[in-house]
Amino acid sequence: MKVLVVGSGGREHAICWKLKQSPKVTELYCAPGNGGIASIAQCVDVKATDVDGMVQWAKEHAMDFVMVAPDDPLALGMVDALEAAGIPAFGPRKNAAVIEASKIFSKNLMEKYHIPTAKYQTFTDMEEALTYVRAEGAPIVVKADGLALGKGVVVAQTVAEAEDAVRSMMADKKFGESGAKVVIEECMTGPEVTVLAFADGDHLSPMPSSQDHKRAYDGNEGPNTGGMGAISPSPNYTPVVAQRCMEEIFLPTMAALKAEGRPFSGVLYFGLMLTPQGPKVVEYNARFGDPECQAVLSLLESDLMDILMACRGGTLDKVDIHWKDAAACCLVLASGGYPQSYQKGYPISGLDEAGKTAVVFHAGTKLDENGQVLTNGGRVLGVTATGQTLEHAIDRVYASAKHISFTDMHFRTDIGRA
Ligand code: AMP
Ligand code: GLY
Repeated sequence: MKVLVVGSGGREHAICWKLKQSPKVTELYCAPGNGGIASIAQCVDVKATDVDGMVQWAKEHAMDFVMVAPDDPLALGMVDALEAAGIPAFGPRKNAAVIEASKIFSKNLMEKYHIPTAKYQTFTDMEEALTYVRAEGAPIVVKADGLALGKGVVVAQTVAEAEDAVRSMMADKKFGESGAKVVIEECMTGPEVTVLAFADGDHLSPMPSSQDHKRAYDGNEGPNTGGMGAISPSPNYTPVVAQRCMEEIFLPTMAALKAEGRPFSGVLYFGLMLTPQGPKVVEYNARFGDPECQAVLSLLESDLMDILMACRGGTLDKVDIHWKDAAACCLVLASGGYPQSYQKGYPISGLDEAGKTAVVFHAGTKLDENGQVLTNGGRVLGVTATGQTLEHAIDRVYASAKHISFTDMHFRTDIGRA
């Protein structure tokens, strides 16, 4: 099969790496890809958000299957457009991807179907939002309705901080139209766990749990990022919690989406908080998380291509999905200054040496004309390894990462231990 993966980050490198192992995949393409993906797939110069361009390229080059990985093209309806052109595509359709693209939609869905989540109110009027914040008091959480690169959430410790967040989203339009509407919700407490699940519209198959590390610095300090590292499984996700999540959250969410005429096929991401009252949904995403994907897929033993086709075909209940009985860790090596401003274009050394003991997924890299790998983004690399225990996996990752260097490289030293 000729397969195209849409996207350019560490997540897409991990997806390509896994698909490359499938005997069914004879030709692998990635649009637009990056410096590391280029070594296992042919990179295609079409932007991930260019729906028409992607459909046209996929048609012209007779792709048999397209895997759409990032949130933006899913929200734009890339899967609908590909399928309409006769090209089988993996990922939710636009009307189901809205579970990530609109926080108001997802909160209303959870309320209607009694899926546990933080108490909330939605606002389109700034004065009403400010009045609510003052009445509820702090801590309180302010969220932009739309996609904001994972940065449209402020967990405010004081009323003044919450008021500032409301003003910057609704008046200053810090996140553009994404912040024209806001959700204000109760602040929950407890460990956070991510569960990714394969879904085919009817059935769902959870992957091993994982845990992202969203803050930029050690000890969960500093600004929120796309994710500085991940482990899988999460030690907090016990079989008892898993059972509860399945009954109270996962199956009801699938049923709710179906009942609304928005059956979800693709990867459904449950961002959960294990609160004293039980597991509750923090957020849904309509795709693999990055860097959770890198850790979780390194534990997958089965053929990913078979699973992707079963998700699209509605036959997920017919495939056996096997996972390694092991643990995994992904450590992100970032550009100094990320998630604010940072430089690009620095040469990276030590990749071959690190690659002997870990898999180094590329996120923001590119190749120069001599084949030298250069930094080209905020998150640059995701050093990933498995081990019999989480401690083994973590030790392996940090030992491998020691070989890698580039100017101003920054990483957390406490992934899996924070
Ligand atoms: P989100 O983009 O919705 O995942 O939010 C980003 C981060 O903000 C989450 O990973 C949580 O750490 C935090 N967060 C979001 N909503 C809440 C909430 N209701 N209570 C406490 N923390 C939250
Ligand atoms: N790592 C969180 C996300 O991909 O949204």
